[in-house]
Amino acid sequence: MSELINKIYANLNYQKQFGNLLYVDKDVKVKDLKNEFINEEVVIKKEVKSNNISKNSVDKNWDKSESLDILRSNIHNCMECELGATRKSFVFGSGDPKSKILIIGEAPGADEDEQGVPFIGRAGKLLTKILEAINFSRDEVYIANIIKCRPPENRRPTKDEVDQCEPYLKKQIELLNPEFILALGLTAVNTLLKGDYKMKDVRGKVLEYEGRKLLITYHPAALLRNPTWKRQAWEDVKQLRAMYDEYMGKNS
Ligand code: URA
Repeated sequence: MSELINKIYANLNYQKQFGNLLYVDKDVKVKDLKNEFINEEVVIKKEVKSNNISKNSVDKNWDKSESLDILRSNIHNCMECELGATRKSFVFGSGDPKSKILIIGEAPGADEDEQGVPFIGRAGKLLTKILEAINFSRDEVYIANIIKCRPPENRRPTKDEVDQCEPYLKKQIELLNPEFILALGLTAVNTLLKGDYKMKDVRGKVLEYEGRKLLITYHPAALLRNPTWKRQAWEDVKQLRAMYDEYMGKNS
């Protein structure tokens, strides 16, 4: 057991020196602990939360970041919630920072965690196809999530995780300054609107989020489970394309 603890502390030191990007071992070893070591696991997790990594994980002036790159570098070592200890990658967002369209999903899954890019797994491939169907490539829009680290087992993010991470997204939105936001699924919608909406109440409508037009459709993972919803999603993204074209026509 002490060998295991030594390894875990060695990993934490490694993380302290090199940051999360190079810190890939994380608490995989912790997960391997047998039941008799559960108490030690709790102690180790507390240690992860209370040591200096947590305090120094984010630049204290991150909210003054003047560009997306600076924001990313100021927050990418975040350890402010427990997901910091289990993630492989901090999935900041990807696409064209000048795009007028921001697409917001829920949280990175396993593939995204592996590669550090949002929406590249099965749901992501469907999102790419949906975008292509309205003549956008992924690189013409910007894609991000409500939270930046993968929840274990792809569970829904907890309220605490969302509360901790949402300010980063808000800052990102301020810097991106999109005209249109497409929220994918109810986690995105209800986080942005601070409500408890059902999809039938919100999709197909043009709502507003902090002075930007907010459109809503099904999360691609939901479309994979319920392909009959694809027709409605198609109507939603066509509406986005039409509004975008109209906006660009007036503003070019
Ligand atoms: N689901 C999401 O909400 N976001 C991703 O990045 C991938 C899957």
